[in-house]
Amino acid sequence: MTLAVKATGVGKVFAAKAGDVTALTGVDLEVEAGEFVSLIGPSGCGKSTLLRLIADLDQPSSGELSIFDKPARRARIDQDYGIAFQQAGLLPWRTVAANIALPLELHGVAKPAREARVAELAELVGLTDFTDRFPDQLSGGMQQRVAIARALAASPKLLLMDEPFGALDEMTREYLQGELTRIASETGAAVVFVTHSIPEAVFLSDRVVVMSPRPGRITDVIATGLGAARDEALRENPLYFEKVTAVREALHGTKVERANER
Ligand SMILES: Nc1ncnc2c1ncn2[C@@H]1O[C@H](COP(=O)(O)OP(=O)(O)OP(=O)(O)O)[C@@H](O)[C@H]1O
Ligand SMILES: [Mg+2]
Repeated sequence: MTLAVKATGVGKVFAAKAGDVTALTGVDLEVEAGEFVSLIGPSGCGKSTLLRLIADLDQPSSGELSIFDKPARRARIDQDYGIAFQQAGLLPWRTVAANIALPLELHGVAKPAREARVAELAELVGLTDFTDRFPDQLSGGMQQRVAIARALAASPKLLLMDEPFGALDEMTREYLQGELTRIASETGAAVVFVTHSIPEAVFLSDRVVVMSPRPGRITDVIATGLGAARDEALRENPLYFEKVTAVREALHGTKVERANER
C-alpha cells in the first residue's frame, strides 16, 4: 500500500552565526494512508521543522522524503495535503469565507459547490456568523479555526497540522479533537499532528512519536491501540490513561537523558 509519508534518514542543519544548528538527525518515519500520527517533544526538538520538510516549505539537508510515493515538491504542486500551522497564516485581505474557499479555488471547484462547502466547514468550526469578517476582526482562536476549516476544505488525503488547537479554549479544543478524528476516519485521511499535550496526542492518534532535542530525533514510538472509538467515553477509559502514562514516561526519559548530558 502507498504510504502517506515516508521519511528515511532525514536530517536538517540550519546555518547560524553562532554555528550550525542540527534541528533533525536520522529521522525515519512511515505514516500509512489513513493513519493518525502525533509528534510530541520539548520545544525546539524539530517538530515544526519536520512538518515543514514534509510540506516542502524547506528542504532536508540529508535523507529522503516521499509523500504518496512522490517527491515532496511534486506532492506540494499537486496539492496532496491540507496544512494548518502554528500561525494561522490567513490572507488578511480575504474574508473568512474566501480564506476557507482558497484550496477549493485552487482545485477548480465551481462557485456553487464552493459556497456550499464553505458553509458546511464554517458551521463545523462554529464560525457561521463570521464568514464575512476579515481575519484581523477575529480572536486568535477563531483565526485558528478558519485555518483548520481551510485545511479540511478540499478533503485532502493527508493533513499536516502544527499545534492547530494551541490557541483554543479547552471546550472548543475537545470538541474539535472529536470532530477531527471523525473527519479523518470518514475521509480516510492520514494526519501528522504536532502537539504539546500528552492527552491530546493519545486521544487523537494511532501512534505517538516522541522526539528529543539536540539534535532532534525520534526516541520512542507508542502505538495507542485505541481503535476507532474516539468518543468522549474514551477520555475516561483505563486503557487511555495507561497510554497517557506511557507517553509521559517516554517524554520524561528524554528529559532525564538531557539532564545527564549537561
Ligand atoms: N529557519 C531557521 N534557522 C535557524 N534555526 C532554525 C530555523 N528553524 C528552526 N530552527 C532551529 O531548529 C530547532 C527546531 O526548531 P522547531 O521550530 O522545529 O522546533 P519545535 O519542536 O517545533 O519547537 P516548538 O515546540 O517550540 O514549536 C530549534 O533549535 C530552532 O532554533
Ligand atoms: Mg513548533
